[in-house]
Amino acid sequence: MGSNLARNLASREGNTVAVYNRSRAKTDELLAAHPEAGFVPSFTYEEFAASLSVPRTAVIMVKAGAGTDAVIDELLTVFEPGDIIVDGGNALFTDTIRREKAVRSTGINFVGMGVSGGEEGALLGPSLMPGGSDEAWVTLGPILTSIAAVAEGEPCVTHVGHDGAGHFVKMVHNGIEYADMQLIAEAYDLIRRGTGKTPAEIADVFAQWNDGELDSYLIEITAEVLRQQDAATGTPLVDVIVDQAGAKGTGGWTVQTAIDLGVPVSGIAEAVFARSLSSHPEQRAVASDLPGPADELQVDGVDAFIEDVRLALFASKIVAYSQGFDEIRAGAAQYGWSIDLGAVAKIWRGGCIIRAQFLNRISDAYAEQPDLQVLLTAPYFVSALERAQDAWRRIVATAAAAGIPSPAFSSSLAYYDGLRADRLPAALIQGQRDFFGAHTYRRIDREGTFHTLWSGDRSEVAAEDTH
Ligand code: 6PG
Repeated sequence: MGSNLARNLASREGNTVAVYNRSRAKTDELLAAHPEAGFVPSFTYEEFAASLSVPRTAVIMVKAGAGTDAVIDELLTVFEPGDIIVDGGNALFTDTIRREKAVRSTGINFVGMGVSGGEEGALLGPSLMPGGSDEAWVTLGPILTSIAAVAEGEPCVTHVGHDGAGHFVKMVHNGIEYADMQLIAEAYDLIRRGTGKTPAEIADVFAQWNDGELDSYLIEITAEVLRQQDAATGTPLVDVIVDQAGAKGTGGWTVQTAIDLGVPVSGIAEAVFARSLSSHPEQRAVASDLPGPADELQVDGVDAFIEDVRLALFASKIVAYSQGFDEIRAGAAQYGWSIDLGAVAKIWRGGCIIRAQFLNRISDAYAEQPDLQVLLTAPYFVSALERAQDAWRRIVATAAAAGIPSPAFSSSLAYYDGLRADRLPAALIQGQRDFFGAHTYRRIDREGTFHTLWSGDRSEVAAEDTH
């Protein structure tokens, strides 16, 4: 990915790119493979720094973690105040906050930057989410704009916010990516088990969906994956891939951070846990004889069922994005970042893994109402959910009755119904908490905090809310 980003940079008018890798052989290989890039090789950090014009800009592309700290330490020995170090790895945003603070004290700028789009995106135009200082953005802005993807005439890069804001937004991007992928997988599973269509036939369904409101990179590649035949066995590739999903951690971080912030990202969480469940073959083996429903899924009207699945997918996707943007809003408030949510939606329209037509609707929603509290309450989404909700309910009910796991579909629907409820059974939970722990409750008809004397005469007393 690093070499592709370097090639992208080198291909832009006026850019000369110096490259360094701790392995001399890798640097030699890159130069030999891409003479057209005109890379300036360097084999020590001193050479690397000496070859850059001032203020120097270095982009680190290493696996996030201790390696990043090691490279930063080396660069600090050869860089000068005013220079810029950019970390383009998938770093945890709290590490980025720590690193930015430490590096800033030397007068050097440190920018944590989310980079999305995989290998191809890095080469042809990624979505870029830089954080860091305003001063760094003055220099970086034009460089990053020159290599970013372009969507509807606009570059997919913006200065997201200070210190760790860029990596925070990239983390949430990945959480949404997990939810999107899980929802697509549930849709595929329901269609396959409900209609008996082959993967190649389901690929046609996804290809068709990609022409409508679900138009997105992930739907497009789903059709490609489902169409792929395995050369060795002559069966669909998807049938020979082990059904245990991997994860490098960013989805889990999104959920852990959401818990810390008190933001219910239930669709994203279910997507993370669905991968975890899939990856425990030993547990799945001992549970495989557990009883299921008597009847398998029987679908009468195949086309109507597929349309229901499409609508359930669209509605659940709206929930996942709404939850993700909620987390960004809460993160910005907690960490003091000024993040333009509409601008984030715009830079995700191209280059990145979750790129989708749908993001235009999100940026429109924030343009119309910059202080929108809950994304799915914007008029476009309200009418989309109104249109989808009956189908969504039918699909969740059908999946439950047939014993087909649909954790992201069903948790998204539960979130939607929870959010719109006039009254929630949280009142009972407050009563229970007060009963066993005198945790107190508030009343709907009076100000103050109260406690019932459960082990006494059960009268109510005013209480200090200390729990
Ligand atoms: C991107 C991707 C990228 C990577 C994920 C994969 O935006 O380009 O999100 O960052 O593909 O980290 O994550 P998992 O291995 O956890 O699925």
